[in-house]
Amino acid sequence: MSVTLVGGERLAGELAALAPVAEAIFGAGQRTPGWFARKLRREGVEARLCTLAVTGDAPFTRERVVGYALLGRAASLGDRARGAGLGLLPALRGRGLGRQLIEAACARARAHGCAHVEFLAEPSPARWYADQGFVALREELTLLVEAEADAPHPSWATSEDDLPEADAAWSWIPECWRRTPASERECLVAHWRGQQLRAWLSREGRAVLAQRLELSCAPALRDHERDELIRAGVLGLAAHAGERPLVLYPCPASARWREGLASAVLQRAFVMSRTL
Ligand SMILES: CC(C)(COP(=O)(O)OP(=O)(O)OC[C@H]1O[C@@H](n2cnc3c(N)ncnc32)[C@H](O)[C@@H]1OP(=O)(O)O)[C@@H](O)C(=O)NCCC(=O)NCCS
Repeated sequence: MSVTLVGGERLAGELAALAPVAEAIFGAGQRTPGWFARKLRREGVEARLCTLAVTGDAPFTRERVVGYALLGRAASLGDRARGAGLGLLPALRGRGLGRQLIEAACARARAHGCAHVEFLAEPSPARWYADQGFVALREELTLLVEAEADAPHPSWATSEDDLPEADAAWSWIPECWRRTPASERECLVAHWRGQQLRAWLSREGRAVLAQRLELSCAPALRDHERDELIRAGVLGLAAHAGERPLVLYPCPASARWREGLASAVLQRAFVMSRTL
């Protein structure tokens, strides 16, 4: 079966229709309707940076898409393009197409002024990315946190503004939160033992996703004080989430504050980066 790579502006308007391909590659899971279009918007996916693998010759039709490499950008990422998914239908794997998709994605990113390309990868595909010249920058966790009934914690209230000078305990790309529809996100503020905290949350199906937790910087905190503040803030967020599961993402795997929390690792991923 011959496979062609197609990409660029001609994909505009086509990408949102790839949801069934995405589910065939990564599994349908417990996804909410419209999840793929929401992902494309949030992660700033640009058609001109994307490449599709299509069976047969041009012109391509949606039904013949068998794989893709999607890239997005955000001002906070500077000259780095960020992967929003790379994969092939199972029957097409193991014949060099993944490598071709990566090379095409990197060439497109370079042609549009990017100096680095990053993909998030779980431990097994991370080895594959390493074989394609990527290096692991850091390890990130998706944590499911349980509320603790008796533990003291701050109460969170709705807020509007960002902290002027914030130290983030963890943060997804800030644009991902800002690109979430206003009706599905909230910014909260809390005060605890003379410190101020702010959290950026979004609703993901039944779950509450804490995309970012900020701490006010003054006065400077010692490491253990900072860890305790974050733990208290997270417990307050779990109470705020109530019956809904509270998920934190992306937490640095090295963070010591998670040691004192009742939490489960839902996913472990590496940020894999290649310089163009
Ligand atoms: C990861 C993926 C894109 C690789 O594409 P591919 O076309 O199968 O890979 P290639 O044919 O270019 O390379 C194959 C080589 O990579 C290795 N490889 C493939 N998947 C691997 C994995 N998950 N871990 C480690 N090695 C892997 C193969 O063993 C093979 O090695 P060999 O050449 O020494 O035999 C593809 O397997 C896929 O779609 N997987 C599911 C989705 C996914 O995991 N995406 C990446 C994370 S977002």
